[in-house]
Amino acid sequence: MIDLSGKVAVVTGAGQGIGRAIALEMARHGADVAVLDLNLETAARTAEEVRAFGRKAVAVRADVTSAEDVEGAAETAVRQLGGLHVWVNNAGITRDATILKMSEEDFDLVLRVHMRGTFLGMRAAGARMRAQGQGGAIVNISSISGKVGNFGQVNYAGAKAGIVAMTKTAAREFARFGVRVNAIQPGWIETAMTAAVPEDVRAQAVAAIPLGRTGRPEEVARVAVFLASEYASYMTGAVVEVTGGRNM
Ligand SMILES: NC(=O)c1ccc[n+]([C@@H]2O[C@H](COP(=O)([O-])OP(=O)(O)OC[C@H]3O[C@@H](n4cnc5c(N)ncnc54)[C@H](O)[C@@H]3O)[C@@H](O)[C@H]2O)c1
Repeated sequence: MIDLSGKVAVVTGAGQGIGRAIALEMARHGADVAVLDLNLETAARTAEEVRAFGRKAVAVRADVTSAEDVEGAAETAVRQLGGLHVWVNNAGITRDATILKMSEEDFDLVLRVHMRGTFLGMRAAGARMRAQGQGGAIVNISSISGKVGNFGQVNYAGAKAGIVAMTKTAAREFARFGVRVNAIQPGWIETAMTAAVPEDVRAQAVAAIPLGRTGRPEEVARVAVFLASEYASYMTGAVVEVTGGRNM
């Protein structure tokens, strides 16, 4: 059985959606969890749900683009939960438009949240895991858009492809500290991020999914827990697709 007891996990963007599901799945498997989000109210709700599993939790308001926030959140996790063993870079946003219509601001903002956010998270986690001397695991949430591109998502697909290269770089750099770094590329998962998509676009997307349906946040969360656990002890720099077979 996957056992994360005695481990402390930090999950960014965990107030809702996939991040919330990852925080809860970590707790179900025994981890204490620091719940980071821009939105302290939703983070506090997720932390309460983590405690319902009998685990310790702390909710932290943190903007992943701020080095000060990310370092502060990492310190809070270490001080209040007693260590740092797992870090999940999940926080994300979309600002969709075709290339011809996209503003520089929306291009920069999406790169900033996903790429700078993942960089700051890996730096904060890597430093503390090295100092702690017990190894660790980092899981970065990319997207299948980062593999195949996506109409209207030049910023998002570019950032998610960047996260793959950043994951492989960190896997090479952190291996000597016993820290594994892997990425997940989810396909269409039912969250607030996908809720606004028009019905005809959704129907078209589902038709292209071999398993014939969209995914649930828990189905990504279980893979994150697996990658964070000893069950994935020989995996680093890997990119795992969780797409129902779409774009394989
Ligand atoms: N839903 C999908 O189909 C899908 C597919 C592939 C990848 N993803 C990725 O999964 C991750 C989670 O997406 P989701 O669908 O749960 O989205 P969501 O919008 O439901 O949740 C995103 C969370 O991130 C938080 N957040 C946004 N910017 C932040 C910042 N600067 N600092 C801290 N927190 C911030 C939000 O407050 C929110 O709680 C994202 O990285 C997304 O790109 C989602």
